[in-house]
Amino acid sequence: MTHEAGIPLGIRFRLLSDTPQDSAAQVVSDVVVGDYRDLDTLRAFAQGCDVITFDHEHVPTEHLRALEADGVPVRPGPDALQHAQDKGVMRARLDAIGVPCPRHRIVSDPDDVAVFAAEGAAAQGGGDGFPVVLKTVRGGYDGKGVWVVRSVAEAAEPFRAGVPVLAEEKVDFVRELAANVVRSPHGQAVAYPVVESRQVDGVCDTVIAPAPGLDPELALRAEEMALGIAKELGVIGHLAVELFETRDGRILVNELAMRPHNSGHWTMDGAITSQFANHVRAVLDLPLGDPRPRAKWTVMSNVLGGDYPDMYSAYLHCMARDPQLKIHMYGKDVKPGRKVGHVNTYGDDLDDALERARHAADYLRGTITE
Ligand SMILES: Nc1ncnc2c1ncn2[C@@H]1O[C@H](COP(=O)(O)OP(=O)(O)OP(=O)(O)O)[C@@H](O)[C@H]1O
Ligand SMILES: [Mg+2]
Repeated sequence: MTHEAGIPLGIRFRLLSDTPQDSAAQVVSDVVVGDYRDLDTLRAFAQGCDVITFDHEHVPTEHLRALEADGVPVRPGPDALQHAQDKGVMRARLDAIGVPCPRHRIVSDPDDVAVFAAEGAAAQGGGDGFPVVLKTVRGGYDGKGVWVVRSVAEAAEPFRAGVPVLAEEKVDFVRELAANVVRSPHGQAVAYPVVESRQVDGVCDTVIAPAPGLDPELALRAEEMALGIAKELGVIGHLAVELFETRDGRILVNELAMRPHNSGHWTMDGAITSQFANHVRAVLDLPLGDPRPRAKWTVMSNVLGGDYPDMYSAYLHCMARDPQLKIHMYGKDVKPGRKVGHVNTYGDDLDDALERARHAADYLRGTITE
């Protein structure tokens, strides 16, 4: 989708891909198949590139530092990106710059979790301090690497991977929000409207832009917070700030992503400039495009891999039913629960847009047949 945004600008992409079948490798013509964890591979790949950016956060920080030392522009750079790679680094930095987060601490074993829970119980003035959320600090995505544990006995599993574990209070949130911003090397920055992100089983299911009924002051605070984080951390490109809206009207940061993000997929059809177009512009230090919405409401629903129907007949049905529907499929192998595409709907009536997105996502997934 980033490549798609670069095509009208005549920007040439070279892709480092794990396999020739990866989604982007199916559409980019200049593909290097190789391991992003291998520095020699990265160095050879970077030869002749004007700038390097990412569609995931897992390239080792030290390799990115080596590329920078070689004189390769890496955007976002490792100093910024480490806050999206490591949830422990992220929490420490957000604390230091005064950004509100859930109560948290790095824990080293289940006994440590018991202490963390006891502190929570004391702070709440009762209970046993559980449930506690445990997260491996690196390598998680789509809820993998996140556990909600209800007792010390349940707390053993997250430590098995041998990766440091972050404990967090389980936030009693009203809903999840996301603030998406883009920042360029010039320091120009734009903010998309704050969206509501609905998760099912720890995976993003639907995003509504803008977040319905959000107090305008809270929305402004969230946008300013995201712009502030982008500036403080020196982010170049797209920054998604995942947020919790609490029952008592606060916003807390869940985590950061430094790349075009699922909570910004609605912008492809719902904003004047998409997150992908603005990410490309930012990475190239071009003036950023207008982030404002095109419609009163835009709804994005993910298509999760399931029992796949015949794609052609699914398209026939969905397109005939809803001529305004926008379908984006990724060409991914289907695995249960995997995000294999998304749909966008928009209009003046939120319930209608939600129903159309839900229908199309379910139909493309094969869970409904009419
Ligand atoms: N402290 C918390 N309190 C309550 N719920 C939480 C907490 N942390 C995470 N969650 C829930 O778990 C989901 C996944 O957590 P998180 O975003 O940290 O994981 P991830 O797997 O790295 O992210 P992603 O799904 O965005 O790739 C959140 O969207 C939220 O629904
Ligand atoms: Mg998340």
